[in-house]
Amino acid sequence: SPKRRTAYVCGECGADYAKWQGQCEACGAWNTLSEIVLENAVSNPPAARRSGWAGKIDAPKVTALKDVRQDADARVSTGIGELDRVLGGGLAEGAVVLVGGDPGIGKSTLLLQALAQMSQSLPGLYVTGEESLAQVAGRAQRLGLPIDGLHALAETGVERILEHAAASRPRLIVADSVQTLWTEALTAAPGSVSQVRESAARLVRYAKETGTAVFLVGHVTKEGGIAGPRVLEHMVDAVLYFEGDAGSRFRVLRAFKNRFGAVNELGVFAMGDKGLREVPNPSAIFLSGSAAPQPGSCVMVTREGTRPLLVEVQALVDASPLSNPRRVAVGVEQNRMAMLLAVLHRHGGIGVADQDVFVNVVGGIRVQETAADLPVLLAVLSSLRDAPLAEKTVAFGEVGLSGEIRPVPNGEERLKEAATHGFRRAIVPKGNAPKAGSYKGMEVVAVERLAEALEAE
Ligand code: TYD
Ligand code: MG
Repeated sequence: SPKRRTAYVCGECGADYAKWQGQCEACGAWNTLSEIVLENAVSNPPAARRSGWAGKIDAPKVTALKDVRQDADARVSTGIGELDRVLGGGLAEGAVVLVGGDPGIGKSTLLLQALAQMSQSLPGLYVTGEESLAQVAGRAQRLGLPIDGLHALAETGVERILEHAAASRPRLIVADSVQTLWTEALTAAPGSVSQVRESAARLVRYAKETGTAVFLVGHVTKEGGIAGPRVLEHMVDAVLYFEGDAGSRFRVLRAFKNRFGAVNELGVFAMGDKGLREVPNPSAIFLSGSAAPQPGSCVMVTREGTRPLLVEVQALVDASPLSNPRRVAVGVEQNRMAMLLAVLHRHGGIGVADQDVFVNVVGGIRVQETAADLPVLLAVLSSLRDAPLAEKTVAFGEVGLSGEIRPVPNGEERLKEAATHGFRRAIVPKGNAPKAGSYKGMEVVAVERLAEALEAE
């Protein structure tokens, strides 16, 4: 019999290796590699490589790039504007889109709504491995969705799913979720890295061969034996993550990878009793809404994707009983916060070594850009001093290791957004400040060094 061929895949990032090793070189995680069997596997060369990712190739052929036909308009609207935005202007033909997020965040709801809309013009198949057909139909009915063109299949075996697809020829497939899928080619348990990866690979190949668009739903899993969506990131065209606070009805959909559009584009939704509703003008929903300014709070203008967004950064600094005080950051990167606290000590002369420091971005939103540096420090300082910032103040700006405040992209657009929403004072990097010292009636405090920023507070 042929020799079993195996590989080792990192459960964190999906990188693969021929041999086992303790640490993943790609993402640095320890003990995350698990063995997968490649025998009969379609993601394995040569068969898959030939009919691989770029569509069906009959014979290798060299073409001048200028002669390649571009289906510029081979996009369909999902019927949901915020989803179209995150996809980069609708769904591309044959695109494979992974939608990841915590259980219960609303992935099934979003995709059922989108598929129902699209199925009015293109035949759609909703494959459910988690809920019964009755549950799916019940939800569609309760949400008042147009379901005439929508077909559903309760099935987890990939071979069976593809047989049904070959017979009914849908143009759109939702597979909910990848963690329930399994292929007969492998003996590993459903949910294992090898099953999830191989099952997804088969759906990807089907999508590319037939031009069918496929949405894969993937639960984000905290450790444990179940493979998370990260394992699939490299094999799909787009990866969208659904984020939000369990306690908040707002949800943010973020493009983490997109072959067809910008990454870090945000779509904003509100979960209600009629499912997910779009929030096309989300600027001010991520503010805590308290009337009077509170100590430890700083509003920032972030610009993730293509539009500005006002969000509130909160900090709590409190004397710590611990010899190793706590540093907890939610919504901003923990390491970045640690760096900022070091800069605050070294260049601002303000130490928090004996204090617990908690930083949180309101609404469960995650801010990944460095423009959050200055607002984080201002919020920390405000909490430490137990003194609120001046009323109607916003801030943005990157903080460098030598205590310099660096300008960030799209400064004027951020100022404009703040002015539009009634802010009266902005603390911003000098490189982003208009010479006049004000913008549309809003006072603009330009800062170049950390020390100036600490005074401006
Ligand atoms: P769901 O789409 O099932 O989440 P996922 O597929 O990501 O696990 O959403 C589940 C949550 O959303 C559930 O807690 C109930 C809530 N929900 C509403 O509040 N309103 C609705 O109309 C629907 C369909 C769900
Ligand atoms: Mg679900």
